[in-house]
Amino acid sequence: MALTNSKPKIAIVYASATGHTERLTEMIVDASVSQGLQPEVFPVKEFDLKELLRYDIVVVGTYTWMNGEIPRQLHRLFEAIEQQSGDLVTGVFGTGDRCFATYCGAVDLFRDMLHAKTQLAATLKVEQMPSAEDRLRCDAFMNSVWRKYSQHVENLVAAKP
Ligand SMILES: Cc1cc2nc3c(=O)[nH]c(=O)nc-3n(C[C@H](O)[C@H](O)[C@H](O)COP(=O)(O)O)c2cc1C
Repeated sequence: MALTNSKPKIAIVYASATGHTERLTEMIVDASVSQGLQPEVFPVKEFDLKELLRYDIVVVGTYTWMNGEIPRQLHRLFEAIEQQSGDLVTGVFGTGDRCFATYCGAVDLFRDMLHAKTQLAATLKVEQMPSAEDRLRCDAFMNSVWRKYSQHVENLVAAKP
């Protein structure tokens, strides 16, 4: 990890089966750019897990599958992030459907792990296809990610002897 006070290296990694989470990812990317960030964006199958260490911030996008589960293609990313040092700043967003018993359960499962193992900044849940109004929520989400990163760098600098 290359935590610096300059522009952080940020990856947005997502899975989407029918397009809702992909659309939400596009909105998250727009919100990142509005924050002055330059994210690298990867469908999870194109993300090389060995590259994880190169990033200061990793934002995960997920839909929810069967009884609140994380989609299979995100399992290896989940396990790889679990092994990271606590300096990685993270966020998780996702889409789901309230007609299921565990609404956006995959976001909750990522949230719990990211909270325990990383510097979790924010979570965001959207029902099915995001609408224009969700743009503001994406802006707030990425603003939280950016503030968490800035605060974490400040804390590290202050802790140096
Ligand atoms: C078989 C199946 C199981 C699902 N299970 C859940 C669930 O447990 N909780 C939930 O919130 N949504 C569930 N969903 C809804 C999807 O997560 C939701 O439609 C999501 O927006 C799909 O995202 P995508 O378009 O990016 O693939 C399920 C959908 C299908 C087809």
